[in-house]
Amino acid sequence: MTQKVRLAIIGGTGVYDPRILENIREEVITTPYGQAMVRIGTYQGEPVAFMARHGVNHSVPPHLINYRANIYALKMLGVERVIATTAVGSCNRNMKPGDFVVVDQFLDFTKGRISTFFEGGESGVVHTDVTEPYCPEIRSVLIAAAEEVGIPVHPAGTYVCTEGPRFETAAEIRMFGQLGGDVVGMTNVPECVLAREAGLCYATVSMVTNFGAGISPNPLTHEEVLEVMAANGENLKKLLFTTLKQ
Ligand code: HPA
Repeated sequence: MTQKVRLAIIGGTGVYDPRILENIREEVITTPYGQAMVRIGTYQGEPVAFMARHGVNHSVPPHLINYRANIYALKMLGVERVIATTAVGSCNRNMKPGDFVVVDQFLDFTKGRISTFFEGGESGVVHTDVTEPYCPEIRSVLIAAAEEVGIPVHPAGTYVCTEGPRFETAAEIRMFGQLGGDVVGMTNVPECVLAREAGLCYATVSMVTNFGAGISPNPLTHEEVLEVMAANGENLKKLLFTTLKQ
């Protein structure tokens, strides 16, 4: 019988390479919400699933990702714990490019996304508690691992999720900062919410790639985001290795 895959990594922008794992195989999983592609490998003998959130070659923009198929596919594999990575801009001057943030709250500014498995009918009407949206257990492992490796890490932060795919206006970044937001990205909602609905223990490590619009002196580009992700790829890999060891 094949071993159950209990742990998954969802790789965000700049994190497409599952090669931290060994013996990788690819599986296309058919869910009631569509198909999801996942690579399954092993880390020190333990099976680990790796999913590239934006698909192969970053081909799917944040507002069109099939979040439900992705999370449902992980659930079908038997996954219990998920570590997600996200590239983010910062609206907090203390959180600088290159810093890691183990976010503990989110503000939802998405507009046109299906954000639930529970749509009435057979799936029922369910209101899920998200007082503490991210799994405190995985968060503390991530924080300890980052400290062990010597990565600049903020142990808490509020993730503002925008609809994208455009970056924000300077006024939006100012507003998000005033509302208590620390970092801005385009994917944690509904991913985090669906994981919670599916009963998965889910946490995100956000990597600051730039200061948000208006704080940054330059117009933002996706290339800039990719460059900083590439420069910090080694740190991220070390963090994931150290976290997986725990
Ligand atoms: N805004 C939204 N998403 C992002 C950013 C940003 O500035 N940087 C990386 N992802």
